Amino acid sequence: MVVVMSPDATDEDIAHVVEKVEGVGGEAFVSKGVVRTIIGLVGDIDSFHHLNLRTLKGVADVHRISDPYKLVSRQHHPDRSTVWVGQPGHQVPIGPDTFTFIAGPCAVETPEQTLEAARMAKSAGATILRGGAFKPRTSPYAFQGLGLAGLEILVDVRRVTGLPIVTEVVDARDVPVVAEHADMLQIGTRNMANFGLLQAVGDAGKPVLLKRGMTATIEEWLMAAEYIAQRGNLDVVLCERGIRTFEPATRNTLDISAVPVVQATSHLPVIVDPSHAAGRKDLVVPLSRAAIAVGADGVIVDVHPDPETALCDGPQALLGTELRELAQAVRRLPPMVGRADS
Ligand code: E4P
Ligand code: PEP
Repeated sequence: MVVVMSPDATDEDIAHVVEKVEGVGGEAFVSKGVVRTIIGLVGDIDSFHHLNLRTLKGVADVHRISDPYKLVSRQHHPDRSTVWVGQPGHQVPIGPDTFTFIAGPCAVETPEQTLEAARMAKSAGATILRGGAFKPRTSPYAFQGLGLAGLEILVDVRRVTGLPIVTEVVDARDVPVVAEHADMLQIGTRNMANFGLLQAVGDAGKPVLLKRGMTATIEEWLMAAEYIAQRGNLDVVLCERGIRTFEPATRNTLDISAVPVVQATSHLPVIVDPSHAAGRKDLVVPLSRAAIAVGADGVIVDVHPDPETALCDGPQALLGTELRELAQAVRRLPPMVGRADS
């Protein structure tokens, strides 16, 4: 931590800061410049926070040098991580060496629709199946998902297709049952800051797909991941899915720069959800290409055998031409940026 004194700070102001820091067992290194004095602090950062250094006379600013998150930071884990998803003997990697394509229906609606969507996903090259059994809906009158019946459909479809499943959990009470059925638990944008739920999935013993909150900063997102990691679960994959901005042309604004920013600061894999970012099927392929080019570790995409009748997010679901274009992009582009298939 570094304390920057204001140009008019007196020697007494500086001495007072040093005294406060030493009073909590820290060390303070004073460096006097021509205009300003800077004080470098070494010691327990939490105890420095309690000092409220910004309120002391003569203090202009306080900067944190180390990340507020520890377990997910690259400062303590320089090599980027790979998370393995699936049952022993059939595990799919998500990490820096590969590009992982996840696809499936937004919501599990019927056994036939889910199986058909899974077949479409698999033949396009997907190696993990997505599908929501518990749907977080804006309206309480909208389709909320099939719940347990939906999980059972996913398990049947996994048996037929061999694809591991990722599915969302929206309530901490459902974590055990979702973890029993799924290979990976998804925390959606609306629950990124539901800290009790994050702790519950941290305890569940399954990899977690943590979507970025639609109004969350990157630091808040990584702090959410830290909640999961703190429970002993470092198998966390981050998913950039678009943030709320003033731009109404798309459902959300895909923050493509979040991918390299997060990869520089955290060792966790980062994937992109172009479907929920755009909300429009015509943008899913271009945004997927952008995700591959920027260095994302994978994409997660909605597909549906009949988007017109979809009970959730039909306008962003791929079928036909767009799905074929996506299949081509995820096959051809990742090797150009040094990645193998997952
Ligand atoms: C999809 O997976 C979400 O449940 C969906 O995007 C929620 O949005 P809505 O309820 O506003 O339609
Ligand atoms: C989803 O992927 O099903 C979903 C609800 O996405 P998000 O949380 O990003 O809106």
